[in-house]
Amino acid sequence: MKGLFIVIEGPDGSGKSTMAKMIGDYFQSKGKEIEFTREPGGTAISEKIREIILDKNNIEMDYKTEALLYAAARAQHVNEKIIPCLKSGKIVISERFVYSSLVYQGIGRKLGINEIKTINDFATSGLQPDLVLFFDINPKKALQRKLGINGGDRLENENISFHNLVYEGYRKIIEYYPNIIIIDASRSIEEIFLDVKNIIENVKF
Ligand code: ADP
Ligand code: TYD
Repeated sequence: MKGLFIVIEGPDGSGKSTMAKMIGDYFQSKGKEIEFTREPGGTAISEKIREIILDKNNIEMDYKTEALLYAAARAQHVNEKIIPCLKSGKIVISERFVYSSLVYQGIGRKLGINEIKTINDFATSGLQPDLVLFFDINPKKALQRKLGINGGDRLENENISFHNLVYEGYRKIIEYYPNIIIIDASRSIEEIFLDVKNIIENVKF
């Protein structure tokens, strides 16, 4: 495929949206066409699934239902949006992808990394990003940034031990996926972007 598929991963509040925008601005200034997107979401159908998943009232949602809904939203996202954009030569910047499910559902919800990988390989037909950036920050600090703003959605309101588990989960899957680049996200936005810029400047496509 002609385009470039960039995925940004990290705990809630780690600065993914902020950096996605800055990465997009950088490439736009070089004349590239950008498609910003996010998971769960990115298409009309996937955004509807997102509403169900994140609805604070859905407290009875089974973890397997949750995992399958994320995978369903992703299947639609990959086929309706990501692949066509890449085929047309765009740079796709997605906040979150399969790694989030491996970590949040596989490890956080204890459903198993292999089980989650299996349903997601089916959902994505094995599509792999060209670049994965992990925004590394202590979950407590990240959540303080986020909860301060809007009180948080269903996932953000999980207790801190869930978020710690998720953070440890990211550290664990990084061992399995050496392609994931770790960025120290506890610093200022300017310092973080200096590192990120160094990385994206050297991406060939
Ligand atoms: P995410 O998309 O990972 O949830 P956001 O980019 O939305 O994170 O950032 C969450 C909040 O933290 C926002 O209010 C944002 O302005 C702020 N923020 C982002 N990066 C930093 C940073 N490096 N230092 C301090 N605040 C930040
Ligand atoms: P969102 O607000 O998009 O993320 P963030 O708070 O990082 O900006 O919320 C998405 C939530 O869904 C977030 O808590 C992570 C979670 N999630 C999963 O549990 N599994 C997944 O596969 C994905 C994509 C997200």
